[in-house]
Amino acid sequence: MCGIVGFTGKRQAVPVLLEGLYTLEYRGYDSAGVCLQVKDGLKTIKTKGRIKVLEDKIAGQGEISSTCGIGHTRWATHGAPSDRNSHPHDSMDGRVSLVHNGIIENYLELRSRLTEKGVEFKSDTDTEAVAHLFASHFHGDGVAAMLDTCRELKGSYALAVICADNKGELICTRHDNPLIVGIGEGENMIASDIPAIMGITKNFIVIDDGEVVRVTPDRVEVFDRNGAPVTKEVQTVNWDIEGAQKGGYDHFMIKEIMEQPKAFKDTVALRINEKGLPDLGAEGVTGDIFKNIRNIHIVACGSAYYAGLAGKVALERLARIPVIANVASEFRYSDPIIDKNDMCIVISQSGETADTLAALREAKARGAVTVAVVNVLASSAAREADHVIYTWAGPEIAVATTKAYSAQLAVMYLLALEAARQRGEMSDEQAASYCQSLKEMPSLIEKTLEVSGQIKELAQLYYKQNDAFFIGRGIDYMAAQEGSLKLKEIAYVHSEAYAGGELKHGPISLIEDGTPVIALACDESLYEKQISNIKSVKARGARVILITNGDFDIDPDMCDHVVKLPKCPYFMSASLSVIPAQFLSYYIGVFRGCDIDKPRNLAKSVTVE
Ligand code: G6P
Repeated sequence: MCGIVGFTGKRQAVPVLLEGLYTLEYRGYDSAGVCLQVKDGLKTIKTKGRIKVLEDKIAGQGEISSTCGIGHTRWATHGAPSDRNSHPHDSMDGRVSLVHNGIIENYLELRSRLTEKGVEFKSDTDTEAVAHLFASHFHGDGVAAMLDTCRELKGSYALAVICADNKGELICTRHDNPLIVGIGEGENMIASDIPAIMGITKNFIVIDDGEVVRVTPDRVEVFDRNGAPVTKEVQTVNWDIEGAQKGGYDHFMIKEIMEQPKAFKDTVALRINEKGLPDLGAEGVTGDIFKNIRNIHIVACGSAYYAGLAGKVALERLARIPVIANVASEFRYSDPIIDKNDMCIVISQSGETADTLAALREAKARGAVTVAVVNVLASSAAREADHVIYTWAGPEIAVATTKAYSAQLAVMYLLALEAARQRGEMSDEQAASYCQSLKEMPSLIEKTLEVSGQIKELAQLYYKQNDAFFIGRGIDYMAAQEGSLKLKEIAYVHSEAYAGGELKHGPISLIEDGTPVIALACDESLYEKQISNIKSVKARGARVILITNGDFDIDPDMCDHVVKLPKCPYFMSASLSVIPAQFLSYYIGVFRGCDIDKPRNLAKSVTVE
């Protein structure tokens, strides 16, 4: 994963680089560093720990004057987090310094070749080999050196280099990892993601695989892999930096939970037409695109996969299309049975998840129609899929997703309604009635957010428990899986999600006196079945928290606590039932003293396999 940033201009580089790095900390946070062009060469400062530790270390060095530099925040892959494994990595003579996001797969071969030539390695990383390789190719022209370097690299990378001899110049490239250039006035930046450039500009260009860029304060030159100049389109960010700040909340996660009504609303608003029908015409998902589809494959990772599972329920039950959902890391190596008769929907907040991108390419290569449901503007998945449907959740900073998941659900409902209509499984009248419900969902989500206080009290009761179960049937099972993942990610509580009817086939043996079971029951047609499952865990000593929109009588041998939710069409209920689970994970995490926005070992954008 890792985040990279670079600045060149007239103002001091350190504050700009640090501000950029803070916004990229979601990408990895075990070590950090900067390299600055100073009067007599380059100065590298790096350390194990978070950006704050780096900031203090830089401050400890006294006044450093520099208007050009690169920075890095790391999520270790090769070599444990330590000062020496932190980026940037410098050449032997200290005249070249480099930061990297990705994995160099042939680094051992490069390392032994360079060692034979007398290079001494100072770290255990794959990246250091690239710094030495670049230095061996550098004879004054950074672009030429980068092109030569890339010819010898295998793997994935976004790279940024500064050289002591080329003042004010950043040289960058990418292959399978994100890289943008922020275009300012008399100053420019490079970064892994948009929030990092927002301190200086809202205008940016997206670098494509294989392109090499030379960035100076007044110029940005892009070259293709043969060194020929390339013209790029300048894009503008359509949100403000406040969207990427905490705005008075203790954590980004709670702020983003509270932003879910808006995320849902913004995502559906322009996709319901004046007839009150779903309209994905602007995205090209229109006409009879669904009509002759044989199967839909939904492919994603983590929470995006769970949003996909909820989408599977809606698509199958409303549009009667068989849906095969798979995690991207499995799909890509499964020799998938998919061709031009099929559609592949990939779902990704970042649009940069390595496995999801590989799955998208696999599906595309086999001829399937590809649709990407993506939150980050101009990200790789957005650019590579045949059709992109943006989730308008705005920037999501907390590592564990909440509002982007909600917005993904909204898109899945729209897709299911559109598919059902196109295939004649739903009349326009029915579709319009469901669209009306879609429009009402933001206020139901708002209402559901009121359970926060009740859930905080429950969290107080249960935060010391180390195991929990989530159960549900149908759509509730899909929401249960997302709820359970949240509890693991945020609060480090071992948690499992089971289909209500499956628990008795083994896991029920783990239920003992006091085991918390979070039971979801929001699909009226399955209330009775789910209640029987709940009673069977209650009878074995479980402490049951029932999350339901049902009006049925609740007796004490069914549950210990009830969280009541508003009613909505069953296939949209994950949008409401996930909210108590998000709050529960959040408050339990807070009570357990966890690092809510940056859980251990995780990163938001997983750009390695
Ligand atoms: C990581 C994050 C998850 C996220 C998953 C997929 O594991 O921690 O929150 O759901 O990646 O990310 P994507 O950007 O593809 O949605």
